Amino acid sequence: MKPRQLFLSILFAALPLIAHAEDLLLTNGDILDVRRGVILPAQDILIRDGIIAAIGPHDSLPTTGDESIVDIAGATLLPGLADAHVHLTVRPTHLGLNELEVSTPRATIAGVTAARNTLLAGFTTVRNLGAPGFSDIAVRDAINEGDIAGPRILAAGIAIGITGGHCDNNLLPYEYGYVGGGVADGPWAVREKVRENVKFGADVIKFCGTGGVLSKGTAIGAQQFTLEEMQAIVDEAHLLGVKAAVHAHGAAGINTALTAGVDSVEHASLIDDRGIALAKKSGAFLTMDIYVSDYILAEGAAGGVSEESLAKERSVGRAQREHFRNAVRRGARIAFGTDAGVYPHGLNARQFAYMVEWGMTPIDAIRAATLNNAELFGLSDRIGEIAVGKAADIIAVDQNPLTDIRALEDVDFVMKDGKVYLNKLHGQETR
Ligand code: ARG
Repeated sequence: MKPRQLFLSILFAALPLIAHAEDLLLTNGDILDVRRGVILPAQDILIRDGIIAAIGPHDSLPTTGDESIVDIAGATLLPGLADAHVHLTVRPTHLGLNELEVSTPRATIAGVTAARNTLLAGFTTVRNLGAPGFSDIAVRDAINEGDIAGPRILAAGIAIGITGGHCDNNLLPYEYGYVGGGVADGPWAVREKVRENVKFGADVIKFCGTGGVLSKGTAIGAQQFTLEEMQAIVDEAHLLGVKAAVHAHGAAGINTALTAGVDSVEHASLIDDRGIALAKKSGAFLTMDIYVSDYILAEGAAGGVSEESLAKERSVGRAQREHFRNAVRRGARIAFGTDAGVYPHGLNARQFAYMVEWGMTPIDAIRAATLNNAELFGLSDRIGEIAVGKAADIIAVDQNPLTDIRALEDVDFVMKDGKVYLNKLHGQETR
């Protein structure tokens, strides 16, 4: 056999071995049990084929000796975090008029970097709620096919909205003839948009139920879509087996969307007590992005945000935090979602400290990003906690996040599906 042939035959013989994640033993870490809210000290975790196979006190697990050992002693382990509201293919420098210069291919490539930064920040699953030209579907598929590193993605494709609404784009005058890709008016037209999104690979449907901060000429408080249209969107999504998320700031849009049966309300900035009651009754989650306001007001102008949008942000930022506190106090179900993309990807965890400052306990803020998001994503059987049978999505920090929630802003170890993407612990330096 020629050397080249020999090399190839050895290579192909080895392929099945490297095709699946190797078996690993994480040793001597302190596990945060997010369900019970307690830390279990000095635990080992055995991982086979990317799944958590066993958990137990240090040196107690039945191993074969073939596992690679990863020393995580002294670190606090958490399940991989999830963010219910990101825009991976949007950058904070691509806002306002700047957006007009960004092609869909360029946005998609921005998404490659964003996906990596998000994963390395400890976020192993995200919902991407709206993307130009289905760029999110391409990023998701590239991750799933192993081309690039990134979180598990539930992608919404193109967000659906009324003519001239927050999910349209009103920057260009009439003679340019531009209409946003998700624009539809009327119950049958919106059903068609839901079907189109699902046809091109959407895992979840996003629509705009009120005006927004970052769009031109829309009022935050104004409802967009009638009840009939919202019911058509939600019904069609559910018929096709996907959930529906509504962008809504004002109370009228929030309450109408909840009446229509949405699965989550994004922003929920001005939610009133009726809206909180409706959400509690239906089980819908509120995804209140209460960090991003600080970033928009400090850095937005440099990224293209217009004075009109900055004025809207000034009117809603603090009010949203007060409504968040009220929603928490009244026992609404809270999902962790940030609107990353409007601010840099990878800084998602900054929102935890705001959630704690505005009335949540640290463990409940962590639950919002783990157990609650797992439920909202329909993935409770696979993600959301460190438990036998679940995907080995595990992160580590060097401080106890129950006593210092900001520990989550600096993650030392990231594993997704049993593969290590970051390990700064004990000089092991995997990256
Ligand atoms: N994408 C959202 C919008 O344009 C951002 C809102 C951010 N502000 C806030 N206070 N959450 O409406």
